[in-house]
Amino acid sequence: MAQTPPGAAPAKPAMRRPPAYPERPPADPAMLERGKALYGIRCTFCHGADARGGSGGPNLLRAELVLNDKDGELIAPVIRNGREGMPKMDLTQAQIADIAAFIHSFKVGGYDISRMTPLTIVTGDAKAGEAYFANTCARCHSTGGDLKGLASRIPDAKALQQTWLIPGSGRGEGTARPKPITVAVTPPGGKRVEGRLVRVDDFLVTLIDSDGARRTFSRDGDVPKVELKDPLQPHKDLLKTYADKDIHNVTAFLVTVK
Ligand code: HEC
Ligand code: HEC
Repeated sequence: MAQTPPGAAPAKPAMRRPPAYPERPPADPAMLERGKALYGIRCTFCHGADARGGSGGPNLLRAELVLNDKDGELIAPVIRNGREGMPKMDLTQAQIADIAAFIHSFKVGGYDISRMTPLTIVTGDAKAGEAYFANTCARCHSTGGDLKGLASRIPDAKALQQTWLIPGSGRGEGTARPKPITVAVTPPGGKRVEGRLVRVDDFLVTLIDSDGARRTFSRDGDVPKVELKDPLQPHKDLLKTYADKDIHNVTAFLVTVK
């Protein structure tokens, strides 16, 4: 660091980041590239391309947790465990470090004020959304059938978007309740027991069976056989495939499904 020569003008305050935001050394460009790509696929549509908040997710650059994070160590548990309205994601520590490097590469100083883009959510093309729906969603849903009246039931476009992205995650009026994950446990030579999953880890699996009884089995590798069925798995899988514009288009279409 060069010392300011005596008598020189101090750096212009407008050129500096606010002191609250930690100065970070520039990250490895290859890491930033990987982080940018991953962020674009997994995080953009909720947190925005510039991490200042998007459809459903908060501004990350203002989050205390992100400010205090160095190389993903604080962001990792959020990604691995999920949050209300944020699905948990199975990413490696290295991938999370890449994403963290990308998020930390944003310059924050004074930017937010100049970000005047209105946060309207229905900016998509309803026609394109209808076509996308026909290709991707219509094998399970129909807007004249199970989704009939969707937008009347969930008039708030943001809650509606949240509902179709991750059913059950919405907080608004009329949003669907998450369907429970079910599990079938078959001990060797024993009878298959099915029920609603309470919890599962490497050592135990607990379910509530059709009689309402709580049953716990210990696990040892593949014994007993444990089959999980998450009714929302298709949605969790699809989530990774949407492009930003698909999301806007589908929402623009679904708000017309009254
Ligand atoms: C489907 C939407 C969605 C996706 C996808 C998503 N998030 Fe989130 N995220 C949220 C929501 C909603 C919250 C706020 C949850 C809450 O209120 O606790 C959140 C919270 C967070 C927080 C905590 C912020 C705080 O203030 O504590 C971090 C960090 C975060 N997300 C990072 C990510 C990263 C990184 C990705 C991509 C790998 C990602 N999120 C993908 C919706 C999403
Ligand atoms: C493979 C089947 C499948 C596909 C494909 C699928 N979904 Fe779903 N969807 C489900 C299931 C299962 C549920 C949860 C069961 C329920 O609540 O009816 C659900 C729930 C929903 C809900 C909440 C319904 C409510 O009553 O609140 C919406 C909205 C929705 N999906 C929209 C979509 C959209 C939009 C697409 C395409 C981008 C899509 N789904 C693709 C199976 C699917």
